[in-house]
Amino acid sequence: MTYDTIIENIGQFILPKAADHPLKGEDMKRLEIRENAAIATKNGKVEWIGTHVDAQRMETENRVDAEGKVVSPGLVDPHTHLVFGGSREEELALKQAGVPYLEILKRGGGILSTVKATREASEETLFAKSKQSLKRIASYGVTTLEAKSGYGLNRETELKQLRVVKRLKKTTVLDLVSTFLGPHAIPPESKEDPEAFLQEMIAMLPHIKEEELAEFTDVFCETGVFTIDQAKRFMEASMANGLTPKIHADEIDPLGGTELACQTGAISADHLVAASDEGMTALALSDTVAVLLPGTTFYLGKDHYANARGMIDRGASVALATDFNPGSCVTENLQLVMSLAALKLKMTPEEIWNAVTVNAAHAIGKGTSAGVLAPGRKADIVVWDVPNYKYIPYHYGVNHAMLVMKAGEVIWK
Ligand code: NIG
Ligand code: FE
Repeated sequence: MTYDTIIENIGQFILPKAADHPLKGEDMKRLEIRENAAIATKNGKVEWIGTHVDAQRMETENRVDAEGKVVSPGLVDPHTHLVFGGSREEELALKQAGVPYLEILKRGGGILSTVKATREASEETLFAKSKQSLKRIASYGVTTLEAKSGYGLNRETELKQLRVVKRLKKTTVLDLVSTFLGPHAIPPESKEDPEAFLQEMIAMLPHIKEEELAEFTDVFCETGVFTIDQAKRFMEASMANGLTPKIHADEIDPLGGTELACQTGAISADHLVAASDEGMTALALSDTVAVLLPGTTFYLGKDHYANARGMIDRGASVALATDFNPGSCVTENLQLVMSLAALKLKMTPEEIWNAVTVNAAHAIGKGTSAGVLAPGRKADIVVWDVPNYKYIPYHYGVNHAMLVMKAGEVIWK
């Protein structure tokens, strides 16, 4: 056989374990690294993985020399707010003056300022802006990601955002999953009656399912936003409509959103900075993935980070994501998040790689197609310009990707 591409001379080949379920316990702590390896692709898929020596005898259209460096599966970013209008650099001064995140929101800024800009933006503008962000995301080695709505907060604009994601799915080579985050904040016009707004968002679920506008839903469960009871009802309604729930849980106040996620069978619970011991134990007993977002804690200027060690050591599955959005974490760089995971969450390099590949894929229902390289899997491959797999968390804030391949095609180099 003539292979489409062979990547040879791989110094360290990172091979997260393929599994039907997200990795937890000892599996989360282990990572297979093969030295002097090679990989061959055919028709967009991985055809063969073996040694550099064996690769010399094989025929190919295209031989790539990895120069003894590191190769991994394409990264997976399981939590982004990709589609939004405008930007919020003016808020930095408020943050510097010590005005808390929820206070800015209460004053009609924060999420609500992006809502205004997103309502005003045309579908075309949002599409073009998101496409630019996708380009940058891919340049950092991410080949699969999630994108949320949530800056419309009315039927019309939420659908506009979801249509943009649907269009992006058709036009980008990246794999994109879509999440309806209607209950992301309470819009000014519903201040007096948040319950009516929640019902309006629930009423959208059948249409979203029918038009295949999203595969997941999400809700911001937080003081002054949506209560545990409201989040629960939204999540149950999502499931009743064939949409799998996610939740922004226990980010600022420990309301018990982590426990709720596990009880309702959410595919992931995200943020979890204030998750309780009970919440962490519930995670360990469930298949709900804890998606941690240390870039957000950093960007909000907080000192207290999610208790990743407590979660991993109890046996919870942990994934990492950027939370890319215009307010609480303005970066597309998942490699930076890997550094923060090492420095602030005290995760090991092995745990970090599992958290941005296989577990991140499971957090968005892509566990059997993304985040792992094995024969038959999609050839989503990154060659990293680093000497070993521990190097990326260590050398922070820059882009180490040397070549990014999606389904066997080079998309960035
Ligand atoms: O995940 N926590 C709520 N939502 C986003 C922030 C969005 C924004 O500030 O625009 C988050 O951090
Ligand atoms: Fe978020």
